[in-house]
Amino acid sequence: MKVIAVLNQKGGVGKTTTVANTAAALAAMGLKVVAVDLDPQSHLTIHLGLDAETIESGSYKVLTQSAKFQEEILLVRPNLWLLPANINLVGAESELVSVVGRETILREAIQKVEDKFDYSFIDCPPSLGLLALNALAAADEVLIPLQPHFLALQGFVKLLQTIELVNKRINPNLKVKGILLCMFDSRASLPNEVKVDIEQFLNNARGTNCAWSQARILPVHVRRNIRLAEAPSYGKTIFEYEQNCHGAEDYKKVAEFIHSQSQPAPPPDTQPADGENADQPSATTDSLSQPDPQTLQSQITTGRSWPESQQPK
Ligand SMILES: Nc1ncnc2c1ncn2[C@@H]1O[C@H](COP(=O)(O)OP(=O)(O)OP(=O)(O)O)[C@@H](O)[C@H]1O
Ligand SMILES: [Mg+2]
Repeated sequence: MKVIAVLNQKGGVGKTTTVANTAAALAAMGLKVVAVDLDPQSHLTIHLGLDAETIESGSYKVLTQSAKFQEEILLVRPNLWLLPANINLVGAESELVSVVGRETILREAIQKVEDKFDYSFIDCPPSLGLLALNALAAADEVLIPLQPHFLALQGFVKLLQTIELVNKRINPNLKVKGILLCMFDSRASLPNEVKVDIEQFLNNARGTNCAWSQARILPVHVRRNIRLAEAPSYGKTIFEYEQNCHGAEDYKKVAEFIHSQSQPAPPPDTQPADGENADQPSATTDSLSQPDPQTLQSQITTGRSWPESQQPK
């Protein structure tokens, strides 16, 4: 099972929309997927058609270790399971404050089902607290949905710092693989400028051993599409709500891309050199520059560190 945390501490960038629709697309491809709602807002639970107010358990019980992961998941579509959330999750951070190993509870729970699923997607809340930390400790990869506007890069650097900390202290396998541009409007100049800035930033990390040295902007962007905004209020995925729209087309491509990246690499003699992968956008590869960790370090000068109470051990 590949565990993908969908995380950005900025609110409203497309995390939940990405989890619901990518998970649904992979399930429709015949893969077994479990989506985890780790947000007290329960938006993923609602998006997939459940009434969060009637959910009595779910991720809160798993995190407080009063139920097992496999007991709490619900089959919500063919091949698609959900660990739902309810408002109780708000209290989880304070309830767990004195629990030793509180940042790895989800990892231990999810590892017990790793032979049952092909993918797990974790929908994180818009913060970098204990819930996000549990997601990062459990994940193999982080997928960062990003809305390309002028403040996007600032929050992005803070996020990468946090992922780096988790990678160094509690999850050495953790990698940022993809940045997914959401609500993208290719006609406007700003999103394209932000995209180039992010590409340059990521290129500086190539060849270093930081957690995002392999990160790339996904070659498919999710366009702004009103149908994606409408579907959650009907408790439907975009494929159920309006199969023939840009949103459905884009998320199907996102799912296909993620799955293609999870397949075993070709033998070394046929493998393209780094930066020459035909799946990647040419703008990314054309502008590859020499890795320069010092520049990268100096670029990452701001950011939030873990509060004392949440320091990873
Ligand atoms: N590509 C898109 N086009 C138009 N609307 C979108 C698109 N993606 C998401 N939305 C809408 O934007 C809003 C925010 O999206 P979403 O809930 O997925 O973000 P989020 O990052 O999970 O937010 P939060 O941080 O609050 O959890 C929602 O109303 C959603 O329906
Ligand atoms: Mg959300």
